[in-house]
Amino acid sequence: MEKVNLKIQNIKKEIVQIFKNHGLSIDHATISANALINAELVGAYGHGLSRLKMYCDRISKKVINPKPKIKIKKISQSISHINADDSIGFVAADIAIKKAIFNAKKTGIGLVAVKNSGHYGLSGYYAEQAVKKNLVTMIYTNAPPAVAPHGASKSLFGTNPICFGTPTGSKIPFILDTSISMINRGKIRVADRYNQKIPPGVALDKFGKPTTDAKKALQGVQLPIAGFKGSGLAWMVDILSGVLTGGNHAGKVKDPFDDFSGPQNVGHLFIVFKANLFINNYIKRIKENIKKVKKLPKIKGVKKIYFPGENKVERLKENSKKEIFIPNNILYEINLLNKS
Ligand SMILES: NC(=O)c1ccc[n+]([C@@H]2O[C@H](COP(=O)([O-])OP(=O)(O)OC[C@H]3O[C@@H](n4cnc5c(N)ncnc54)[C@H](O)[C@@H]3O)[C@@H](O)[C@H]2O)c1
Repeated sequence: MEKVNLKIQNIKKEIVQIFKNHGLSIDHATISANALINAELVGAYGHGLSRLKMYCDRISKKVINPKPKIKIKKISQSISHINADDSIGFVAADIAIKKAIFNAKKTGIGLVAVKNSGHYGLSGYYAEQAVKKNLVTMIYTNAPPAVAPHGASKSLFGTNPICFGTPTGSKIPFILDTSISMINRGKIRVADRYNQKIPPGVALDKFGKPTTDAKKALQGVQLPIAGFKGSGLAWMVDILSGVLTGGNHAGKVKDPFDDFSGPQNVGHLFIVFKANLFINNYIKRIKENIKKVKKLPKIKGVKKIYFPGENKVERLKENSKKEIFIPNNILYEINLLNKS
């Protein structure tokens, strides 16, 4: 795979311009560009620039609304319900996490449900905003069918990520942000694009046979983590982010790449609360907790026990120092979009 490297600042300007050319306001274009660049920097390439064309195509085909009239309904001082009016998911999620943080600061807990949204990228990106304000957070979103419910031969659940974030008393937040599938769909899409194999044990083809062929995996089903347990977690996320919010659920979220028959109506749920709600020494206690885990004897070959999110911060630090590498075909897409 041939790659070029470019300064991140230049790319950001171009991405903002591309979103503006597609009708987004400067604010919404900047929010969206920042989310894509962040995904590249933390190494989540399946949620980065490789999706730019998809978002632009959805705007052009009028299934993402570039000028949404987003409505925030106040249910109580703590609880809000957002109708994102088919906005690009990044904007809906950005508004929602800010509202949840605001509510939590005021009352101790903020609960924000979002409907009529779209794919918003990485849950952890929004969790970081809350954790930076010393708040604990749990975030859920559903996604298009990719995973077969336990016992079913057809996919229905998305890779439905589960995200939990907490301050740690250090500069590095604890952010567990994991899809419930063995690997996330973005990674399979990237493998498909570059004709790479996917690891064994993560997907079945459309005939139910194990496969390492990315294309066959996309046509078949992805496997959940830990069998029926992962299937149960995916179901829980579908209920919390779809059934509860008014978003699509039970397999109705449209695939953003392949299905332009209407908006996705993805649902998200943001729960944010103060860390010192029940005790006044949370940071001291979590520091003790993490220290204890990290001090455990390690198995052979392991130099360090990481807590969730630590690896991403290390990658972000490293990648921010250098120029980012962009595969030629994505650069080609960016250039075409810039001219359109
Ligand atoms: N918006 C959507 O529809 C959607 C759907 C699926 C996934 N996603 C996003 O994709 C991203 C990637 O998901 P993923 O499942 O590939 O994540 P992943 O497998 O890269 O990581 C999962 C979690 O494990 C932690 N981790 C990784 N290595 C570790 C180690 N050695 N020790 C301790 N912890 C470790 C990570 O910090 C992370 O919190 C997430 O940000 C998720 O929100 C989004």
